Amino acid sequence: MPDVNPVHLIAHKRDGQSLDPDDIRGVVQAYTAGDVPDYQMSAFLMATYLNGLNDAEAAALTDAMLHSGRVLDLSDLPGTKVDKHSTGGVGDKVSLILAPIVAACGVPVPMISGRGLGHTGGTLDKLESIPGFRTDLSIEDYRRQLADIGLVLIGQTEEMAPADRKLYALRDVTATVESIPLIAASIMSKKLAEGIDALVLDVKCGRGAFMKTEADARTLAETLTAIGETNGTPTTALMTRMDVPLGRAVGNWPEVAESIACLRGEHADSALMEVTIGLAGEMLALGGVADTPADGRTQAREAIEDGSALDAFRTLVETQDGDPSVVDDPSMRPGADPVADVVAPDHLEGVVTSIDALAIGFAAVDLGAGRRTKEDTVDPTAGIVFERTVGDKVEPGDVIARLYARDASRIPAAQEAVADAFTAGASAPEATSAIIDRYTRDGWSGGSDAASSV
Ligand code: URA
Repeated sequence: MPDVNPVHLIAHKRDGQSLDPDDIRGVVQAYTAGDVPDYQMSAFLMATYLNGLNDAEAAALTDAMLHSGRVLDLSDLPGTKVDKHSTGGVGDKVSLILAPIVAACGVPVPMISGRGLGHTGGTLDKLESIPGFRTDLSIEDYRRQLADIGLVLIGQTEEMAPADRKLYALRDVTATVESIPLIAASIMSKKLAEGIDALVLDVKCGRGAFMKTEADARTLAETLTAIGETNGTPTTALMTRMDVPLGRAVGNWPEVAESIACLRGEHADSALMEVTIGLAGEMLALGGVADTPADGRTQAREAIEDGSALDAFRTLVETQDGDPSVVDDPSMRPGADPVADVVAPDHLEGVVTSIDALAIGFAAVDLGAGRRTKEDTVDPTAGIVFERTVGDKVEPGDVIARLYARDASRIPAAQEAVADAFTAGASAPEATSAIIDRYTRDGWSGGSDAASSV
């Protein structure tokens, strides 16, 4: 390990100079080992937040974080292993639908997922709302299940990318989370540790995403893709809209129930399925079972139509000790009944033009679907299901959403927040594709390249 002087690195970055990649590796290694204190790393993170990192610096940071722990090797298992990562959104249950579709089409999917972060949900919390479902498999069980059924979804283990865990906690309390190179290094260090052969990214953009502007989302997509490709992992990014919650449900079990409906072929024309099928097309092309993403999208739709994607989801649930009867009949899950309605207030008349994803994300957290502090436990069935969405007619007194929560004291504030999140106008907004654009190492190629038409 190079002998780094953190003060010099902090001063260089503070003054806008670029750093030697080896020095970046050195400071990350020293911090992970406890040889650089939090106060110096905080200053380094803030200097980075303010002055950014160039591609070589970002690659070195990712590499150091990746190699701070165990890097899995799945090369002895058959098939091209492909994963997907989303930068986080509201109602983003895409992984629950996408992973079984892709596995059913013959591409192995080893997925290591996260928990809810801020106002955004996390795949692990959603899966754990299925009674009995275990996400804490050992690495050995993860490998075995991938070989047996071609699909496994677990949480990050202690051994993988420990530098990210330590740095993330520090960023969280030093106002340095929203930095594109820091986010990119954090995401990619975890994904590349999974032992995957290729990666598809869903870079969310809009009010309910961490990247609020298209310009920032484009830079993040480019940075993430460059890190993946530099590491030898083919990477494709779709930039998708996150102004309005994705789908009709927000909250852990409500989103699982909606995902099961999608796997049954319901909601085929929704933005949720446009994004899911778009990502599936990319994964199947990278996984080598489709000649093109368009061919992959056709195969993905067939996997829904012939029931093989739903079967793959059921097998996943059963293999990870979940109760498969709730897949067969989601209404069987205890606590699955709504406890209150949200009624359209007097001013909400005409056609729904928007539902503020950020406000809905926070309302879902406040109902118990997410955490206000790190120590909070989530209420697995808490959430919001929309009865009206963008483009639907609405008039005062209509039920626009139904709320789910164990703690009744949380309902009145959520009713008000959800009602306030809706806006209406005289006519429906112009229809737009949920996929804004597509990025590969060859550059941006336009959203229509990844959209649902085949
Ligand atoms: N997700 C991550 O894993 N890391 C970040 O920094 C932000 C989102």
